[in-house]
Amino acid sequence: MASKKYDLVITGGRVIDPALGFGRDADVFIKNGAVSRIGAAGKSAGLLRSFDDDQIVDAAGKLVVPGLIDMHVHLREPGREDEETVISGCRAAAAGGFTSICCMPNTSPVMDNQETVKFVQDRAQNADARVYVVGAATKLIEGKELSEIGDLVKVGAVAITDDGHYIQNPELMRRALEYARMFDIPVMQHAEDQYLCNGVIMNESYQSARLGMVGAPSVAEEIAVLRDIALCRVANSRLHILHVTTKGAVDAIRQAKREGVNVTCEATPHHLVLTDDEIGKEFNTSLRVNPPLRSVRDREAVIEGLVDGTIDCIVSDHAPHSMEEKDCEFDQAPPGMIGLETTLGLVKTFIIDKGYLSWADVIRKMTINPARILNLPGGTLQEGSTADITIIDPDKKWTVKARDFRSLSKNSPFIGWKLSGRAYKTLLGGKVVFER
Ligand code: DOR
Repeated sequence: MASKKYDLVITGGRVIDPALGFGRDADVFIKNGAVSRIGAAGKSAGLLRSFDDDQIVDAAGKLVVPGLIDMHVHLREPGREDEETVISGCRAAAAGGFTSICCMPNTSPVMDNQETVKFVQDRAQNADARVYVVGAATKLIEGKELSEIGDLVKVGAVAITDDGHYIQNPELMRRALEYARMFDIPVMQHAEDQYLCNGVIMNESYQSARLGMVGAPSVAEEIAVLRDIALCRVANSRLHILHVTTKGAVDAIRQAKREGVNVTCEATPHHLVLTDDEIGKEFNTSLRVNPPLRSVRDREAVIEGLVDGTIDCIVSDHAPHSMEEKDCEFDQAPPGMIGLETTLGLVKTFIIDKGYLSWADVIRKMTINPARILNLPGGTLQEGSTADITIIDPDKKWTVKARDFRSLSKNSPFIGWKLSGRAYKTLLGGKVVFER
């Protein structure tokens, strides 16, 4: 006898919802694509008898959490559909446990106009994840003239950025912040001073000197962050610093938050796990990223910022590149690595298992924090909310294999790594869109 009251129940799992302060064994009941009720474990035994087998998702030994949100993803459509499409990127997202992703505007054409934003939104209609567009802050991401920000917001852009490029002109950045304030969206800044980063290949360090590569000094990030904090303060706006990588930047953001500046920031698993010591070993071109992998001291400072709450979110900065483009000398390779399918496992293995953060802390930085920063729906299992849910196999041991990636690109330096923790099932609006 099929339950009429509910469509589906996820039973036997440990439900963790930091937004609700909830963390215990419970059953999640779903009706019409929404969370209908979270019932105390064991109390639903009678009710469960009224469910058909296909209405029950067995989550024994698993974590049941709000659908993960990745606020920093590069899809390559339009322009480089050989590297990633909206559909393939969303398949990768679902396999990584993400139900919502925010895509960056450095496509071709650039997402600095309503048509391109609508095109991507249209492509995402039946995808395995929700896609939110971050519009370009300046036309063509050239840093010369602001985009029509109001137009972008009107069609659903959730923030603006020139990601990949720092908005070098402070007057333009000030106005971007002022416009963003009018629309209550943040400016997401790629904080690397372009003059200090001209022609750089990797972090400026002993390693860059040893390898003879032009280095990006960490101070380039620090002064970019300091300038933007000052501008954010006078504009009384909202600033989000993308992929923080240096001690100087973490310290500056920590201090600004103490002073009440409305600044938030994020970190990527690769900057939490890897340092520039890796590059000279094999010159693996997947290790070339912007901002670059930094020193041990910087990496430790980023972890510290994550632990003390200075860093609000964990993001993949999923940046697909083709084999042809990455199969070259290190200094010729385009920057970027994929990350949607490895983020959860890396964070579990290197942040949770090492004792830096609890599951609840990590889930907060991957659900409700990004949702609040970007005013996105979701990020919680509160009754009545859309049933975007990630079920995690918390101690699942697995090896990263190129052939398993749903992403069309394979540029990951983590291939061959043994990780612990992986998405087990991903539900979008109460429907299973991924299962292992
Ligand atoms: O490594 C990076 N790759 N950093 C960026 O900021 C851009 C991204 C890309 O689009 O490939």
